[in-house]
Amino acid sequence: MIEKQSEPGKVMKRATLTLEERGVSRKELLQKARNVDNDEFYTQYEDVEKELSMYPKRIWKNKVVFCNCDDAVNATERNTSAFALYFLRNFNVLGLKKLICTHYAGKVDIFNQGQRGSVFTKYGFNERDKKKEYPKNYSGSFDDPLSLKILKEDADIVCTNPPFSRAIDYWKILIESGKRFIIISNITNVITLAFVPYFREGKVLPGYNRVDEYVNQKKEIVRASGTWYTNIPIKNRDYRNLKIVLLSDIPEKYKKYDDSKTLIVNHCYIPSDYKNPFAVSARPILNGLLEKGYEIVKDQYFPCENGKEGFRRVLVKKV
Ligand SMILES: C[S@@+](CC[C@H](N)C(=O)[O-])C[C@H]1O[C@@H](n2cnc3c(N)ncnc32)[C@H](O)[C@@H]1O
Repeated sequence: MIEKQSEPGKVMKRATLTLEERGVSRKELLQKARNVDNDEFYTQYEDVEKELSMYPKRIWKNKVVFCNCDDAVNATERNTSAFALYFLRNFNVLGLKKLICTHYAGKVDIFNQGQRGSVFTKYGFNERDKKKEYPKNYSGSFDDPLSLKILKEDADIVCTNPPFSRAIDYWKILIESGKRFIIISNITNVITLAFVPYFREGKVLPGYNRVDEYVNQKKEIVRASGTWYTNIPIKNRDYRNLKIVLLSDIPEKYKKYDDSKTLIVNHCYIPSDYKNPFAVSARPILNGLLEKGYEIVKDQYFPCENGKEGFRRVLVKKV
């Protein structure tokens, strides 16, 4: 850090800034360090293929796909992101117009890409690598001015697995862009205050599949509770996991009332004849509850039982 001192013209080298001067607490720093690890896991090809093949082929026709969170394209498949690989392999079958993948110059570089960040474009199988760009000072971050320009001006559909630790910022930018998307995020987003309005307003829908396994930097399988989210209409969802039945038919062990007499249901049981708001966890929403005539009426609810606060939920009600 170089800082100008009061004596004119004299530039002094300064010691590292204190945490206080940097405006961060020790706790925040530790959390940041932890987040770097939590973000560094990678989607497996089978999961990308399983989800993307559920959407009608026509949505891809002549479209520009943008993979904007560390979706490196490399000489070997091992060092290419599963998203990039899926679109490169299926470029002609889907009838894509263009694929733009960006690589984030973070602390960890699992794809061994080496550059500080790059934009790849591809117009067809025969033109691979012809349109490589390495813009100066480009970080590859989804909120870098160039990435935002691509999102705004070029992209039709965004597909990626963004860093869980930056999900709030990422979702805001993506949803405000008005572009179509199919992305992976944490399953708890559907009941987390920052994201719930998107579901309540129908701006985001749960996708088809959950994603429980990823690959870490050592190429080992790791578990994390992810799922797909999209704003592309879901036509053929399987609702069989939702058990919408009369309240009296819900087994006793899956229904209870909290201290404020609010009904709590579990195990994806949903009362069909209950008029008051009731509390649900993430899973029923992920299984399509909001498409079955129920709406979110409270974005955050922590049931209290015998004075003890339980896990986060949302309150829903039959429309
Ligand atoms: C969960 S991983 C997924 C990587 C890849 N998209 C995939 O699905 O295999 C999230 C990636 O986002 C990267 N990342 C972190 N901050 C980023 C940012 N500001 N912009 C873009 N990517 C970022 C992380 O380095 C990490 O590689």
